[in-house]
Amino acid sequence: MKKTDLKALLDEMSLEEKVMQLVQLPGDTFGNDAAVTGLSNSGIPENVKRLAGSTLGVWGADKIKKIQKEYMDKHPHHIPLMFMLDVIHGHKTVFPCPLGLGATFEPEVAEKGAEVQAKEASADGVHVTFSPMGDLVRDARWGRVVESTGEDKFLNGKMVAAMVKGYQGDDIKDSDHVASCVKHFAAYGGAEAGRDYNNVELSEHTLREQYLPSYAEGIKAGARMVMTSFNTLNGIPSSGNKWLMRDILRKEMGFDGVLISDWAAIAEMQNWGFAETLKDASRLAMEAGVDIDMCTECYSGNLKELVESGQVNMELLDEAVMRVLELKNDLGLFEDPYHGASEEKSRKVSLTPESREAARDAVRKSLVLLKNKREALPLKVSKIAFIGPYADEKEMRSSWAISSDSSTAVTIKEAAQKRYEKSDVKVKFAKGCEMLDNNTELGFFTFKKDDLDNENNKLLSQALEVAEWADEVVLCLGEHFSQSGESTSRVNLSLSDAQMRLFEEVRKKGKKITTLIFTGRPLVLDDIEAKSDALMICFRPGTEGGNGILDVISGDYSPSGKLPMSFPYCVGQEPIHYDRYNTGRPKPTEGATIFTSRYLDCPNEPKFCFGYGLTYSDFTVSAVSLSKDKLTKGDEIKASVTVKNTGKVTATEVVQLYIRDMFGSRVRPLRELKGFEKVELKAGESKTVEFGITEDMLRFFTINNVFESEKGKFIAFIGFDSETDNGIEFELV
Ligand code: BGC
Repeated sequence: MKKTDLKALLDEMSLEEKVMQLVQLPGDTFGNDAAVTGLSNSGIPENVKRLAGSTLGVWGADKIKKIQKEYMDKHPHHIPLMFMLDVIHGHKTVFPCPLGLGATFEPEVAEKGAEVQAKEASADGVHVTFSPMGDLVRDARWGRVVESTGEDKFLNGKMVAAMVKGYQGDDIKDSDHVASCVKHFAAYGGAEAGRDYNNVELSEHTLREQYLPSYAEGIKAGARMVMTSFNTLNGIPSSGNKWLMRDILRKEMGFDGVLISDWAAIAEMQNWGFAETLKDASRLAMEAGVDIDMCTECYSGNLKELVESGQVNMELLDEAVMRVLELKNDLGLFEDPYHGASEEKSRKVSLTPESREAARDAVRKSLVLLKNKREALPLKVSKIAFIGPYADEKEMRSSWAISSDSSTAVTIKEAAQKRYEKSDVKVKFAKGCEMLDNNTELGFFTFKKDDLDNENNKLLSQALEVAEWADEVVLCLGEHFSQSGESTSRVNLSLSDAQMRLFEEVRKKGKKITTLIFTGRPLVLDDIEAKSDALMICFRPGTEGGNGILDVISGDYSPSGKLPMSFPYCVGQEPIHYDRYNTGRPKPTEGATIFTSRYLDCPNEPKFCFGYGLTYSDFTVSAVSLSKDKLTKGDEIKASVTVKNTGKVTATEVVQLYIRDMFGSRVRPLRELKGFEKVELKAGESKTVEFGITEDMLRFFTINNVFESEKGKFIAFIGFDSETDNGIEFELV
């Protein structure tokens, strides 16, 4: 439809029709014929169901086509309904969770994943995905860190942009793609004490320098939708924050797409004590520029009256409705309301060998090896025992892969049996224990099993028998599927008592131990690390988890993943991140530490820092050399190193550039990631890696409240993690 026709359509619509374009209803409203027969369903008035502009959480081509047809037939202007869904890291083929994708340090992997998800979801009738999440995360207590690519704004920005491109392709009209929604604007990851939905207090410079850039990258990449966040930011709920939405998002970032509230976030402004009534909340949200109200009666129940009484002016309403109509139009829904969806296409494009292979590749690249002693990995022995609740567990997705089916996943056991079936290597498996302890709270339910102690004793003795038989044990441990995700904040970041007991008992057998950890967040792994020969983080690897992990632990591929978030020594260190400040009393590396910034009982640094991860080989990096040591605006310094694989096997390193600004009109972080490059080298091979450093990379939000650079000294560090001390000074003149 032409823009002029859209405008004509808008002019023809009644006030009620316009309002309803801004209303999103939960999918179960349309789950049966109630929506079209006009019968009351879940208390939603008939006119709302008949006219609401979008819905979420429904998928399946035939189902969606039926709903769409019946809806459009009844709609006075036959405007199509828009279908949205949380396709976060997989629709049918599940890729590693976003935190795992962060660990790949390879935006192309995230892009490929998004492309596969878009194709599968679109064939199933989905028009918009609520992904990617651009929230910067520094606190492992917050369960939603699983949905982020980590603690660094630069890495997140690259990942978010890549995902937007993957989802949307060049044109969202193309039926292999969907529109992408960047969320949760803004700073949801800064929730106080890591407790979900909580207040966020941030200075403007921290907000702008650290928290906003990754959303901005998503918007620059063309994301068609943005979602507000649940939190308040310095006392103001996002859905009613005019400054944040109108000044920053729309004016500064240039976002002209649809802004949707998070689920019930407009109504929740009343609970926050920011709006006295739902009507006030609706007015505040409209003034802030929130176009769609997700799943409450705020807009449907109040907006018409607000406009009629002149409290919300018609232009504001028209603008919002137009944005929704434009998105529908750009998706091509006026011409093809099904966006090419069909059951046949869905069968054809879902879980194909190619998409499984892409997911498997992503798994291989997401694994982070944190320790490898006594040559525990890759596995070389002839009798291997896989022990633990994840040894044969299909549920390797995160709780944010709602439209997938975990029965399609390949477990460790299935992958190992297949891999070794025609070899001399013998494999055995044992569960060892239940994953959780009794009375573990999981949100939707509390884990409880009668006779758990007896059951665990039985499982343990089977596991010990298998361990006794083996040359090496691979312990497959981790968090439960429901322990990370929304509303899963935790103050205890250790494994369950049952798993720790299993670990200790198996260890007593004196075999080599490799521990694999399945998790949606950084965990406290102190004891496990100390007592394992090898330790590898597998995140939530998804459908091809077993295959991808076996590819790596068997030695076909060297691990190359790097931590996208710091792993702490203990929970008390949270929030923790590498780009912290020096303080006025930095802790000295040697000598007296009293009256310095430190803990009495724990290091300042995390147990494993951002950017850390081993390979099966050894790498060296030369001192950094600069093409010159003075930088002027418009010019570039080339910083280079020679990286050498001094080990015995081909492997991939992630070479990372960090810059420290030594002085500033506002205190500057100890260092910030400014570039990375993955290099694959054969044993003995070396390569020069070069990064350009330009003035714009040195800008920050200065005392003048603008992004600008300041002359002075900087250090460029190039190495293999965020604690590298391989640095060289240069000056901006
Ligand atoms: C979450 C969003 C999600 C939305 C729709 C909310 O509870 O915070 O991330 O997109 O639900 O499912």
